[in-house]
Amino acid sequence: TSGALVDRFGRVHRDLRISLTDRCSLRCTYCMPEQGNEWLARQSILTLDEIERVARIAAANGISTFRLTGGEPLLRRDLADIVTRLARLETETGPVQIAMTTNAIGLDTRLDELIDAGLGRLNISIDTVQREKFRELTRRDRLDDVLAGIRAAAASSLRPLKLNAVAMRGVNEDELVDLVQFALDHDAQMRFIEQMPLDAGHTWDRAQMVTREEILEKLATRWHLEPVPGRGGAPAESWRLDGSAHTVGVIASVTAPFCGACDRLRLTADGQLRNCLFSNREFDLVPLLRGSGTDADIERTLRGCIWRKLPGHAINDEGFLQPARGMNAIGG
Ligand code: GTP
Ligand code: 5AD
Ligand code: SF4
Repeated sequence: TSGALVDRFGRVHRDLRISLTDRCSLRCTYCMPEQGNEWLARQSILTLDEIERVARIAAANGISTFRLTGGEPLLRRDLADIVTRLARLETETGPVQIAMTTNAIGLDTRLDELIDAGLGRLNISIDTVQREKFRELTRRDRLDDVLAGIRAAAASSLRPLKLNAVAMRGVNEDELVDLVQFALDHDAQMRFIEQMPLDAGHTWDRAQMVTREEILEKLATRWHLEPVPGRGGAPAESWRLDGSAHTVGVIASVTAPFCGACDRLRLTADGQLRNCLFSNREFDLVPLLRGSGTDADIERTLRGCIWRKLPGHAINDEGFLQPARGMNAIGG
């Protein structure tokens, strides 16, 4: 243990997002092409032991939250084992937190097992609660499966429960109030996300993006919104609804980036470290994990990766280039 993972700008890294697979049970138009991507080869996917090793070294260096992402993490057959192993890890200040971001398909039958394994927090993606729209957007008719997953999460002990929706022009921009109401009915916080240029088809268009400003305007037609101060390293800003205990969140990665407070590091399913969603460089852990790399070598790669982190993404700059891999491969 040689202390915190700090970058050149003084940002301390406490959150490692681990993508467990690039595969998914849905085909959201903003994330993947219809036919899916060319999937990662099975043997290039990190194993349970390899993930645990990286996580153990990260925890020894101040990473206190592990967020499991994908693709869809529920497609990993050894998911409960992964949660069990990671939940056992300790930082200097106590046990680590295990969180997961999921589309909730199949969650209902597996949630108890995951909670027993040590899962602490869930964020569920749901962009629409309208069946036909869901089918078009995700190219799969599985809204009922998602709803069953959300009901199971709502009935569980996991709190806070967060629901994520990417706000999309001509898709769900007219549904924001309904989505908040849906979240309230499930004792969850609804969060709206500005769409980022990470789609497989590279069709992102700033002019089409539903902005934080617009999202707030639409919500203000129904509720009095009062900003909740202090978000720490969290990407979402929150607003209180009509003075109640309920809040809504907005993740304005494009118009109000939170890069200055970023505490995140990413590990792809095929063992590449990324210091940013938008970085154009990956740091390959596979030769170390599958060769004769020592824990010290892995720690050095973690530190080197963080040391090269830029002050922020360049989405708003002239000549911005979208990363080569799409969201499903980078791991939300
Ligand atoms: P919490 O810890 O519950 O706040 O989770 P989270 O919001 O960090 O994670 P989640 O997986 O729910 O992601 C919600 C949205 O935030 C997705 O669109 C993510 O891509 C985006 N997001 C998460 N982390 C980052 C980040 O470091 N940078 C940017 N730009 N977006 C991020
Ligand atoms: N921009 C913003 N959020 C996105 N997500 C997927 N693609 C994008 C994008 N291009 C969201 C998913 C999920 C979370 C992990 O990231 O909807 O909620
Ligand atoms: Fe961090 Fe990059 Fe996200 Fe900015 S865009 S918050 S630097 S991961």
